[in-house]
Amino acid sequence: MFYKKNLAYDLVIFGAKGDLSNRKLIPSLYQLEISEKICKNTRIIGVGRAEWNRKEYIKIVKHSIKKFFKKKINKKVWKQFKSRLYFCNIDVNKISNFYKLKKILSKKKKIIHYFAMPQNTFGKICKGLGKYHFNSSQDRVILEKPIGNSLKTSKEINNKVGKYFTEKQIFRIDHYLGKETILNLIALKFYNSIFFNNWNKKTIDHIQITVAEKIGIEGRWGYFDKIGQTRDMIQNHLLQILSIIAMSPPQDLKTQTIRKEKLKILKSLRKIDYKNIDLLTVRGQYSEGFLNNKKMPGYINEIGAIKTSQTETFVAIKVNIDSPEWIGVPFYLRTGKRLPIKHSEIAIYFKPMNNHIIRKDMKNIPLNKIVIRLQPNEGIDIFLVNKIPGLDSNYKLKEIKLPFDYKKSFKNLRLCDSYERLLLECSLGIQSLFVSRKEIEASWEWIDSIINSWIKNKSKLELYQAGTWGPESSEKMLRNDHRNWNNIVS
Ligand code: BG6
Repeated sequence: MFYKKNLAYDLVIFGAKGDLSNRKLIPSLYQLEISEKICKNTRIIGVGRAEWNRKEYIKIVKHSIKKFFKKKINKKVWKQFKSRLYFCNIDVNKISNFYKLKKILSKKKKIIHYFAMPQNTFGKICKGLGKYHFNSSQDRVILEKPIGNSLKTSKEINNKVGKYFTEKQIFRIDHYLGKETILNLIALKFYNSIFFNNWNKKTIDHIQITVAEKIGIEGRWGYFDKIGQTRDMIQNHLLQILSIIAMSPPQDLKTQTIRKEKLKILKSLRKIDYKNIDLLTVRGQYSEGFLNNKKMPGYINEIGAIKTSQTETFVAIKVNIDSPEWIGVPFYLRTGKRLPIKHSEIAIYFKPMNNHIIRKDMKNIPLNKIVIRLQPNEGIDIFLVNKIPGLDSNYKLKEIKLPFDYKKSFKNLRLCDSYERLLLECSLGIQSLFVSRKEIEASWEWIDSIINSWIKNKSKLELYQAGTWGPESSEKMLRNDHRNWNNIVS
């Protein structure tokens, strides 16, 4: 049964022809249909410049489901899903075109507008919607990232959207917030006393967050080159993960309370500027290399590339949080394209043991650590030190791993796609998994300083071979602190 609260709505997808819509939104909506989470009179209205009629749009949608949903289409489910689909031909640059929505949309139902389009269109779309009054207080708008590429531009976009929609109506997507393993961070930290009581600077030595991608630029070189990995991944996904990992227990799980706690962390990030940038950051770009024994071109040899590009495809940052809870505990972030495998994780290292029964020859006891595997192979590994069994009277120790695997422990349960969850939450009006304007602006403020300092210092862009874990300086940054990146086995 669909959620009782979830009354029928009209979902308008701006950018219906685009990659996001076909690869993510349509398959997620179809899955929601299978799970009976969309109620009866809900409709999906694709919007785009294409001259499609309804029949043609239905054909396109079916094709996307076949291609990206990857399971056999169920006739009954498809029949129901198909009946929800409509198409409206609109060029968002022509404000009068928005009139056409009047013929389709019902003012009685709430309307959710999904902006799956470049950020420079957000203002225009809002203007069109405003002109024909598709922004009444029950209507909502979902904004895809990136929202701006600096604090200034993000404010400009937020202001434009803010003219027509209030904060309560605006849902800013960071799809990482919809991932099951990120949602589980709250359960892990706040519902387990062994973690709750030890999640602090007294017991934690440092935390590593890695988001490794195997893919390269996937045909969007021109777009990516203006952005780079720092704006594309750190400003949103990695800072959001960091803020959840580091936030203090909220008083409740209401949207405003969670947002407040996350914001406190984002505002406490110690500024990185031209004086310390070269110590605290590493920026790299992939060169030609091998992945799964296949030769990969370098970033500047990809289709459409400009040979002189200085854009980073890898970044590693040592982050300090100036809050009483975390002072002295570094967070190391790294993310890159064309790394050996797709793998995201959080590795939490606990402080070294220090007590009188530790013998001198036991000096190198490995640190206890929790590795939260965000994707793929979702799970958690806890690393402990164990006595090696045997008759030896001296304790001999070995690091052992206690693995938890989602697939094994929740055999009959499916891990939902993040868009599925986020679309559902928005339809229910729950904003806690969406990013607030203040969070976005605090993140940009911190990121701006890093990017401006790289420019000011003419910081080195280091090459790394495709299929490796980034430039050597990234390893060196941790070695300088007598640490190493968690060994991720390819
Ligand atoms: C997007 C970035 O937000 O996240 C992409 O724009 C990146 O460059 C993608 O590849 C990674 O998402 P996921 O869910 O595959 O880790």
